[in-house]
Amino acid sequence: MSLLIKNGEIITADSRYHADIYCEGETITKIDRGLTPPAGTEVIDATGKFVFPGFIDPHVHIYLPFMGTLAKDTYVTGSQAALVGGTTTLIEMCCPARKDDALASFDLWHSQAAGKSACDFTFHMGVTKFDATTEQQLREIVRRGISSFKIFLAYKGAFGIDDTELYKTLKLAKELGVVVTAHCENETLVSERCAELLAAGKTDPGQHHESRPPLVEAEGVHHLMTFAELTGAATYIVHLSCKEALDQAIAARQRGVRVGVETLIQYLTLDKTYAEKPNFEGAKYVMSPPLRDARNQSVLWNGLRDGLINTIATDHAPFDFEKQKPMGKDDFTKIPNGIPSLEERINLLYTYGVARGRIDLHTFVNTASTAVAKQFDLFPRKGAIQPGADADLVVFDPSYRGKISVKTQHMAVDYSAFEGWDLEGRASVVTVRGQVAARDGKFTGTLGRGQFLQRKPSHF
Ligand code: URP
Ligand code: ZN
Ligand code: ZN
Repeated sequence: MSLLIKNGEIITADSRYHADIYCEGETITKIDRGLTPPAGTEVIDATGKFVFPGFIDPHVHIYLPFMGTLAKDTYVTGSQAALVGGTTTLIEMCCPARKDDALASFDLWHSQAAGKSACDFTFHMGVTKFDATTEQQLREIVRRGISSFKIFLAYKGAFGIDDTELYKTLKLAKELGVVVTAHCENETLVSERCAELLAAGKTDPGQHHESRPPLVEAEGVHHLMTFAELTGAATYIVHLSCKEALDQAIAARQRGVRVGVETLIQYLTLDKTYAEKPNFEGAKYVMSPPLRDARNQSVLWNGLRDGLINTIATDHAPFDFEKQKPMGKDDFTKIPNGIPSLEERINLLYTYGVARGRIDLHTFVNTASTAVAKQFDLFPRKGAIQPGADADLVVFDPSYRGKISVKTQHMAVDYSAFEGWDLEGRASVVTVRGQVAARDGKFTGTLGRGQFLQRKPSHF
């Protein structure tokens, strides 16, 4: 099986040129102008289009038992949605409950993806408790090809760990060369403020952001940075949403702390007024950390442009508006947290980032693909257009004009947080390891073809 992508403009994190890309089997083997393919080669004409390396979402939830319910997507629906939107690799959070066994959970999460996913995948291993058994199991999980952990400094009693567990997790990560990704919010402040708001009769979705203001996140980041500085572990802050938290991460970097920073497409494009919509509609926009005051958006865009923020994810966590969000109808603390956006991350980032002049094409590719691959030990297999790399490619049409709608989405959730939003450009042809998997908004790939990506720790 061979594939030729002809006449496209190749854009990588650091280069821009016109050439053809020839792929044999699953791999890119040649890049040059005027390539003539052997008979039987599938040819894709990319004239007038960009060709990007396949995009990687570094933070998704597909299988997620959470807040008394289960997130809506499976790897069957989630991987199709990802591919249609130009994302060819998923890094999912494996999130055991505190009572669960780490190794059994890892196997469970893996079994949800293997044989179902149409795109490649790997996991951040959630450390939701730390004891002697868990430690041995984490060592085994790293031997099986996982090079990142996930911890929560939030969700008291569910996923959250205490400071002793945090310290021990970071020490183990340092020893193993594993990077520790972290949800940073001070859980005591969150639970105290939630209780105060509810006691005052403030129960609607718009109270969610009042319960966890920017300082709650900044404290979480500062807390993690202190522990990282003392242990020397490499860290990565997931879903950073505001200036106050970014300031803490940058201050720590200046002290020598190793810290990557991820923001989300939702924080770049939505603000807290969405969660204040009347008639419970705000529940569609409840996630943690919450959507912020709009002043933060330019801080985040500028942070991406200047390299202070390294990656862009979705934290995809889909819960239906009709049947699941109403669990919190009379109590905002019970609204399942999450704003689905796996399918739209790349098209939104292009439209509201590149096309609006907020970031350039190289920053776009870097933050949504290459930097992710480097941070999580996937580069240069992923995140690169070069001979030897996996033939994960996105032929992107900047002349496309359309609108986002729940009616056309592949995500298995009953609303779109971006309903009616304009798109200026979209992924037109998407390949996974040399096979066309999506074309002009339609899935054309093979369910079950997605591979588990073995990773080796590098953060010693
Ligand atoms: O609101 C969110 N972020 N939901 C998913 C769970 C998490 O915190 O990542
Ligand atoms: Zn989180
Ligand atoms: Zn998450």
